[in-house]
Amino acid sequence: MKKLTTVEIDGIASDVWVEVPENEPAAWPPEAELAVLGKPLARVDAYEKVSGRAKYTHDLNLPHMLWMKTLRSPYPHARIVSIDTSKAEALPGVKLVLTHKNAPDIPWYGGRSKLFDTTLRFVGDEVAAVVAADEHIAADALALIDVEYDELAYVLDPETALQPDAPAIHEGGNLMQGRPFVYSRGDVDKGFAEADHIVEATFRSPCQVHACLETHCSVAQWQGDRLTVWDSTQAVHPNREALARALGLPIADVRVICLYSGGGFGSKLGLNKYTVAAAIAARQLGRPVKVTLDREEDALAMGNRPLNVMTIRAGCQRDGALTALQLKSIGAVGAYNAGAGAGAPLREIYKCANVKTEESAVYINADVARPHRAPGHVQGTWALEQALDMLAAKCGLDPLDFRLRNYSDTDQVRNLPYSVKGLRDCYERAAAAFGWRDRAARRAQSRGAKKRGFGLAAQVWGGSGGPPGYAIVNLYSDGTAHVFSGCQDIGTASRTSMLQVAAEELGLPPDKIGITMGDTQGTPYGGQSGGSRTTPSQAPAVRMAAAEVKRQLLALAAKQMNLPADRLATREGFVFDTANPSTRKPIAEVARAGLTGQGVVENMLIGKGWRGPNPDDVSVQCWGAQFAEVEVDTDTGEVRVVKVVAAHETGRIINPLTGSSQIEGGVIQGMGFALYEERVLNNASGRMVNANLHDYKIPTAKDMPEIEAIMVEMPDPRANSVGIKGLGEPPIIPTAGAIANAVADALGVRVFEAPITPQRVLDALARRKGRTGGTTLSP
Ligand code: MOS
Repeated sequence: MKKLTTVEIDGIASDVWVEVPENEPAAWPPEAELAVLGKPLARVDAYEKVSGRAKYTHDLNLPHMLWMKTLRSPYPHARIVSIDTSKAEALPGVKLVLTHKNAPDIPWYGGRSKLFDTTLRFVGDEVAAVVAADEHIAADALALIDVEYDELAYVLDPETALQPDAPAIHEGGNLMQGRPFVYSRGDVDKGFAEADHIVEATFRSPCQVHACLETHCSVAQWQGDRLTVWDSTQAVHPNREALARALGLPIADVRVICLYSGGGFGSKLGLNKYTVAAAIAARQLGRPVKVTLDREEDALAMGNRPLNVMTIRAGCQRDGALTALQLKSIGAVGAYNAGAGAGAPLREIYKCANVKTEESAVYINADVARPHRAPGHVQGTWALEQALDMLAAKCGLDPLDFRLRNYSDTDQVRNLPYSVKGLRDCYERAAAAFGWRDRAARRAQSRGAKKRGFGLAAQVWGGSGGPPGYAIVNLYSDGTAHVFSGCQDIGTASRTSMLQVAAEELGLPPDKIGITMGDTQGTPYGGQSGGSRTTPSQAPAVRMAAAEVKRQLLALAAKQMNLPADRLATREGFVFDTANPSTRKPIAEVARAGLTGQGVVENMLIGKGWRGPNPDDVSVQCWGAQFAEVEVDTDTGEVRVVKVVAAHETGRIINPLTGSSQIEGGVIQGMGFALYEERVLNNASGRMVNANLHDYKIPTAKDMPEIEAIMVEMPDPRANSVGIKGLGEPPIIPTAGAIANAVADALGVRVFEAPITPQRVLDALARRKGRTGGTTLSP
């Protein structure tokens, strides 16, 4: 039976048809003592990674390989009047120059139909590509392409872009889809009328680039009419389909491989133009083509978290109960269609009957936004949690008590109860570990110019995953097994998690199992690794495939052990009698006797599994709360994060080691958003002035606070058969809000713009003293 089920990825819900599994194993009871899940297992590919043996796409060099480099627009808005490639083509070693004149049109995402367009809408937009014998010749040839540009008026910030006289980036104006996205429940005017306290503030969040350690890259190779692409991507199967569509190939003739990834964070979702161009060139030239973007190209053209200007108005009664929440958000999507919403946290996380959000996505002449780890939620939560602290202060309530006062037991947007909601546990456990209730004593230790402050923020994220996701498990005649999983490991240790799930269900130790992921050849379909969906989508598929193998294995064992199959179970490498656990037989012996003793036909067992539908009568969400302690130097304006305690509830814990690594990574990236990261555009040229890792600051080892990761384990049997929810994105969400609140607590004055740079701290202090401050860096 097929069922239509709702799947939400990065806040965007869609309906997916899925076959309802008939033989899916029942969810383990929350209190079940499992043998492998929940245990700290080192990554199965740890040795490859730390020894440098793991081959990333960047490491791949094929015989006779050529290199591609891209010429990018130096102007934020221009038309190509003419383009002359003859000098470039004459350079020895140059094999091909692709421009709008000779490149085929391909169906493209975001409403773009051309590989190379004649209208350029941002600095970094693709103009041409050169393929040459090596990278340096290709780079030299770029400089020999003569392009005559007709420069057009441009606009770099979304508020100016909405003015009636602003340069239009597309026909139909700069407001994407011509209208804001509006959500409303209850009556906000009534809610504000009932409020005893009201706050209103405007928050400006920065444009944050992904800054992946491995920049974007692909290698394309043809064998006859078959294409293989090694791609640094978060989505091997979806990219295979997109490549087949773009090039008019049968899906079966395209193979996409990404065995290791040096980070994506959303910027490696979706097929990229350079990948298609490399495939076209490789076919034409009969040689493999490699394309790697450099750090500047990555910053200029590979996406970002869009900047948002968010005005929040919030009202509550004397006792702290929220009566109204309102958000007006303007987000800059860049030059082409993308998402820039920020309202979901405000709509969802706190109990409030009257809510209205109005979100405008606006074109500007800059690089296009892309999903960036918890898109919308990072900036939306950062603003919301600050507005709540302001309101709590007006009521004279402790910020934690204020949040507990407005705790919501139901999903007010979807009108559903939650399956499991562990936010209260997150608050309590993090507060206890942080020492929230006795922070006054710690504050009293502040000396001189260095002021201590304490803040918190909470988080919701729809990382329940969902179909599609398929897996195959083989059990061989020596009792070892192999998992074939459709997804890829983007650095989150999915390889290890999937292997643990198979080991648990089969009753085998993890070291008896191998796994293949990140290669469309030999694996069944798996979706993208985005929206924290990989584990909750893929693990139930792996478990179901392993369960099918186990059923067959137990049937073999039943014959061998003279016991009914339904009395048998597996654990730690043995089949055992559940009525009499000392009666047991090694799985390896059962397999050997059962699979090699009966001729050559049945020499291994195969199981197939897939991800079933999501429940439609409960809302499955991921929860977390973080507490931050900062020290602000009021002489220099510098903020030092002393400590972050991060508690997250994401269902069952597969692996506390890799799970806490996700939490630490999220906190670090959230700290970058709070304090350091910002794309700076020069108004006079439209260029990004900090398109490198020297001027674009990300946190380094020197900046690290003490991070305490707390995994609140609450297995969620309604979510899926493994009881898990996603953990990739949740930990980045509340960090910046907690830090901003801690800074405000330390200073007694709030910085409404992120990142909280020393200059902005000094400006805020100057404003409080009634003096006019210095200058700020950003427009
Ligand atoms: Mo993500 S931003 O779903 O990789």
